Amino acid sequence: MDFLTAPFLIDSGRFSGPVLVTGAGGCLGAWTTAILVRSGVPVIPTDLQKSPGRVALIMGEAAANALDWSALDVTDGLAVAELVETRNVQAIVHLAGLQVPHCAANPALGARVNVEGTVNVLEAARHNGIERVVFASSVAAHAFPAGSGFKETLYGAYKVANEQAAFVYWADWQVPSICLRPNVVYGVARDQGISSKNTIGIQAAVLDEAYDIPFTGPYSWLYAGEAAAAFIASVSADGDGFHAFDLNGRYETIEMGLSELDRLEPRHRVVASGAPFPFPSDLDETPLRAHVPDYPALSVRDGIAATHRAFSLLKEAGRLPSLPV
Ligand SMILES: NC(=O)c1ccc[n+]([C@@H]2O[C@H](COP(=O)([O-])OP(=O)(O)OC[C@H]3O[C@@H](n4cnc5c(N)ncnc54)[C@H](O)[C@@H]3O)[C@@H](O)[C@H]2O)c1
Repeated sequence: MDFLTAPFLIDSGRFSGPVLVTGAGGCLGAWTTAILVRSGVPVIPTDLQKSPGRVALIMGEAAANALDWSALDVTDGLAVAELVETRNVQAIVHLAGLQVPHCAANPALGARVNVEGTVNVLEAARHNGIERVVFASSVAAHAFPAGSGFKETLYGAYKVANEQAAFVYWADWQVPSICLRPNVVYGVARDQGISSKNTIGIQAAVLDEAYDIPFTGPYSWLYAGEAAAAFIASVSADGDGFHAFDLNGRYETIEMGLSELDRLEPRHRVVASGAPFPFPSDLDETPLRAHVPDYPALSVRDGIAATHRAFSLLKEAGRLPSLPV
């Protein structure tokens, strides 16, 4: 499966100490961890518990199980501080979080993980002089101030709070950070959240199952490897100030993705129906790319082909998970 991470490997000389990844068991965390490890950069993968499942889909079971996981709940400020203090951390890629449905189902827990968790990371950076911090906001932040025309969610409100807090951490205490607002991530290991349905469509085609993607029309196709590469690029040099950037991927349609699937799996039973996705799909990445060192961009055709190839290989090996319910 090395073909998945190969386009995104980086020069390990950009780092002189370990990179702490929170939420490393999630989709973006798994990709970030896999790319860093395969690039020879020391990584401290953390999640609520040892979580090699998604990393194994990207870099194989042996490599994923060989990682030195640390259990870290980002709501535990003392634990975050202790890990940063004791492990000589040079950079933090903060990806732990709860997605839209989880925040709606449990708003207080959503606030603790998404908002307090980010404050705990910024505090640890502040007290340890960490100059390389990137954290995930979301396109959902663009729904505010309310009335923008895009769907307001608690998840988006929490992301806005993080962006504003990080601004204050720079203004008052000179803690530099970059906040990236990923649009819709797709690729291997994208298996939860309202925007995972285009990836699940590719998986359904490989599994020869019928599937209805519940969106049509314009869509942001942000390949998971490319998104992870953007997070890594954001901490590959010391920060200066607080910066928030949109991370969009390619502006295409759901139907264009389905036509790629027609080529790869001519007999697939995947369709799309419903209204367009309720967030903007054509955000401008130019400011991000002007600010951080260059990282690769994958076309939708190449991203879908790589995802389809990986799912097919995992299926042959009996390791492709069944479709999420
Ligand atoms: N995937 C996308 O399309 C997308 C888009 C915009 C923003 N984001 C943001 O990017 C980040 C990563 O997204 P993802 O798709 O990898 O999410 P994910 O849901 O796949 O992974 C999140 C990880 O966070 C972990 N986590 C939950 N609570 C935790 C806690 N208290 N302490 C430590 N870890 C905890 C989970 O176990 C999980 O492994 C999130 O902040 C998400 O909001 C993702």
